[in-house]
Amino acid sequence: MVIAIDGPAGAGKSTVTRKLADRLGFSFLDTGAMYRAVTWAAISRDVAFTDDDALLQLANSIQIAFDGDRVFVDEEDVSEPIRTPEVTRNIFHVADHPGIRGRLVELQRQIAATGNFVCEGRDQGTVAFPDSFCKIYLNASPQYRAMRRVAQLEAAGQYVDYDEVVAAQNLRDERDSNREVGRLMRAEDAIEVNTDNQSIANVVDELERIARAKIAAR
Ligand code: DC
Repeated sequence: MVIAIDGPAGAGKSTVTRKLADRLGFSFLDTGAMYRAVTWAAISRDVAFTDDDALLQLANSIQIAFDGDRVFVDEEDVSEPIRTPEVTRNIFHVADHPGIRGRLVELQRQIAATGNFVCEGRDQGTVAFPDSFCKIYLNASPQYRAMRRVAQLEAAGQYVDYDEVVAAQNLRDERDSNREVGRLMRAEDAIEVNTDNQSIANVVDELERIARAKIAAR
């Protein structure tokens, strides 16, 4: 079984999705981490983001693996380095690449075939698992998303300007919504959940209710 959860950055997706997976006894697949892993590998191995062929070759040659919450590239633990601003700023080179998207979607399907998964990303309900029996689109207003991002960065000891966060978010939204392949889009049959003004616990409760109803109706 695959539960597909999509939505923009800052809607609280990864926190609530992990908790949902725990409650259901499902595994969790963070597909954003895969795009981050390829981006990190390109930076650390000096592959030019302008070289489409070399980027694809890199994506095809590295081993991306998960162990719980940890992410590995060729057995190196990259869980922290894939979250740096430099990686985040450059992901679009990788996420815009149709060949790399194809490779990562294939990997997502291989991983999901090994058990029950909650898969989180931008294109899970539309491209990776269009036949999923349970699709959820997690959304929030731009203001809430930016506030969450500021709080997250502050918790990590980085102090940032709210307006700068909004500007960076707008740029990512534009890129995520306009890429040729795998753009951020709500699947027609996805249930939309808005997380504005809601506690994490409330959102997880709502997702669990939706998921259990869908599981029971299968
Ligand atoms: O979820 P995240 O912020 O870690 O994702 C990082 C980037 O990866 C995001 O800007 C868009 C891209 N991404 C994607 O294109 N497709 C996915 N399924 C997941 C993430």
